[in-house]
Amino acid sequence: SLVSMRQLLDHAAENGYGIPAFNVNNMEQVKAIMEAASATDSPVILQASAGARKYAGEPFLRHLILAAIEAFPQVPVCMHQDHGTSPAINVRAIQSGFSSVMMDGSLKEDGKTPASWDYNVDVTRRVVDIAHACGVSVEGELGCLGSLESGMAGEEDGVGAEGKLDHSQLLTDPNEAAEFVKLTQVDALAIAIGTSHGAYKFTRPPTGEVLAIKRIKEIHARIPNTHLVMHGSSSVPQDLLKIVNDFGGDLGQTYGVPVEEIVEGIKHGVRKINIDTDLRLAVTGTIRKYFHDNPKKFDPRDYLKPSIAAMVKVCTSRYEAFGTAGQA
Ligand code: G3H
Ligand code: 13P
Ligand code: NA
Ligand code: ZN
Repeated sequence: SLVSMRQLLDHAAENGYGIPAFNVNNMEQVKAIMEAASATDSPVILQASAGARKYAGEPFLRHLILAAIEAFPQVPVCMHQDHGTSPAINVRAIQSGFSSVMMDGSLKEDGKTPASWDYNVDVTRRVVDIAHACGVSVEGELGCLGSLESGMAGEEDGVGAEGKLDHSQLLTDPNEAAEFVKLTQVDALAIAIGTSHGAYKFTRPPTGEVLAIKRIKEIHARIPNTHLVMHGSSSVPQDLLKIVNDFGGDLGQTYGVPVEEIVEGIKHGVRKINIDTDLRLAVTGTIRKYFHDNPKKFDPRDYLKPSIAAMVKVCTSRYEAFGTAGQA
């Protein structure tokens, strides 16, 4: 059944667990997430970016979600708009039947230029008014995702700020977070702690200098009743990178957000953990290997089936690590 994000995150807070929010663009991703959730008895957050809507088209995206709910009637599902960059995009998502939206007013409508405090408060407040009238939850964002190593946002996927960011923009301020939540009444707040989108987050396994789990604790202490959201939270598993590179891929050396650091965040108010890159890596490695091992095969089902299985494995391990398993 379709539920709001607020319902899921309130339950997660009461019971001290986190929920991975996986990005979806196609049937295989939706199936993998739902199969893993069903097998582990986990509640689900499916999220679609503007890019996903462009790729699949609004009707396909809407019906994929409806299909997930119909095929797995026992699993609670939240359908979330990821990184809505304007009130209009979020209103359109509500019209499409989404039960949750993200007003990302940390950046201007171009999705690249850091926005002012006043702009962020204004657009977020407007979306909260409309969404709450419709029973839809709202995630806001304060601070800009980006690397504390380089000062750059995740560069390769076009999602996030362009150019260099100040150190202060890369770490959400706890007092500002409290003021922002008070002014906007968001249901959940995405915070900046040094993570970025995509595969290239850290050049070495991250320490507290570049992955500020400490900042989560400070924000949580200030606003203990606000559900915190971690973006850019793929772990970029080395074994998945290796499969891609062993079979013709050329991904550089890189590190993601260790699962145990996310688990530490969950102990301090993190309830929603956004993951896209890890499922992309799982699919790409599987298909590359399949093509290498089976040069005579050409039925897409032959390589999409194992790629679903690879995604199920990633989803299952996150549901188990984050304490989501058994909570549906
Ligand atoms: O926000 C980042 C997600 O990974 C979505 O990426 O815009 O390429 O769909 P996308
Ligand atoms: P990753 O690129 O780390 O998977 O992050 C996804 C994300 O934050 C989507 O909003
Ligand atoms: Na989001
Ligand atoms: Zn994100």
